[in-house]
Amino acid sequence: MNRTAARVPSVVEPNPAPDADLGRRLRECDEFFRQPELSHLPRRRRLMALWQLRTHGSYRQTAEEIVIGARLAWRNHDRCVGRSHWRSLELLDARSVRSAADLAAACFEHLRRALQGRAVRSLITVGPQAGPDGQSFRILNSQLIRYAGYRTPDGTVLGDPDAVELTDLARRLGWRGARTAFDVLPLLISAPGEPLRWFPLPPDVVREVPLEHPDHPWFAELGLKWHAIPAVSNMNLEIGGLTYPVAPFNGWYVSTEIGARNLSDRDRYDMLPVIAERLGLDRSSERTLWRDRALVELNVAVLHSYRKAGVYIVDHHTVATQFLGHVRREEAAGRGCPADWSWINPPMSAGLTPTFHRYYDPPDPAVRPNFVRRE
Ligand code: ARG
Repeated sequence: MNRTAARVPSVVEPNPAPDADLGRRLRECDEFFRQPELSHLPRRRRLMALWQLRTHGSYRQTAEEIVIGARLAWRNHDRCVGRSHWRSLELLDARSVRSAADLAAACFEHLRRALQGRAVRSLITVGPQAGPDGQSFRILNSQLIRYAGYRTPDGTVLGDPDAVELTDLARRLGWRGARTAFDVLPLLISAPGEPLRWFPLPPDVVREVPLEHPDHPWFAELGLKWHAIPAVSNMNLEIGGLTYPVAPFNGWYVSTEIGARNLSDRDRYDMLPVIAERLGLDRSSERTLWRDRALVELNVAVLHSYRKAGVYIVDHHTVATQFLGHVRREEAAGRGCPADWSWINPPMSAGLTPTFHRYYDPPDPAVRPNFVRRE
């Protein structure tokens, strides 16, 4: 028998195809169980996990290991300015879901629990690992709550231009929206052995905030609103050599995410010209700073409206101060705090916040646990 033939796995061999990534995953597993946060576990737990990973390509983490891993992933995520709260993340363990419908129900429960009274709780729902055949559950939406974007015949978009592709896909699957500028998209979920399916979000899980301005009654007539909970659903959670392809997590909003990006970017809702017009600003030249003035009023409206609705939101000044407190505490604990300067700073008035006036340890893309963007 030649050497090539000897390598063909026989049917009785439990684990064929040695994973090309196995070395890296074993290293991540080893490092994970050596984290101080897991120092209460016996040494044999680490050895057992390593052995299972080496022989079966996977192992089963306990809920405690996952919640600690997810908190470390948050702490390690260099683009997040909200990391001072990393210890408060709670886990909803959805590893036992067996169908797309089960997973959709788990996501709805996540959204229900995230908002309790005026408090927003930081939660992560963790679904099954990919199977040995690479088959896995997937949420196609970038966030659990997203507004549709419809291409119109004149080339403009009704709704959120960022969601045009997802909207097209949902429509091809048979979903029909009401064609307003704020139609909540269904969850698009693929599950092993099932065709791609869509699930409309029950109205009780989508809290929204209509926007008004404390000084300008006309602002409410613009009909703007945004949802209460940002819940990112398109990132893999990587812990201890394992990948969880379903791991939607939520925090609360920083007002500028809505007021200085989603509603103001030219390739999103592009509201600044309309708001400037209503404010009576001179738009004949950039030098009048009409964009900047409209931007400030839009952000005033966001903060005012969320407070009035009783939905927690943080402004960019406060979150920046909290972040620097976090960096100091990390340094006091003997850790660096790598941060991506361009993501940490707010999209307006950056120079007014303390995060602007310094540099950070450079991001290290190999750090784990972490949230990793998927292609
Ligand atoms: N920037 C995204 C949005 O505007 C949300 C990203 C996560 N943000 C957060 N505060 N956790 O919807």
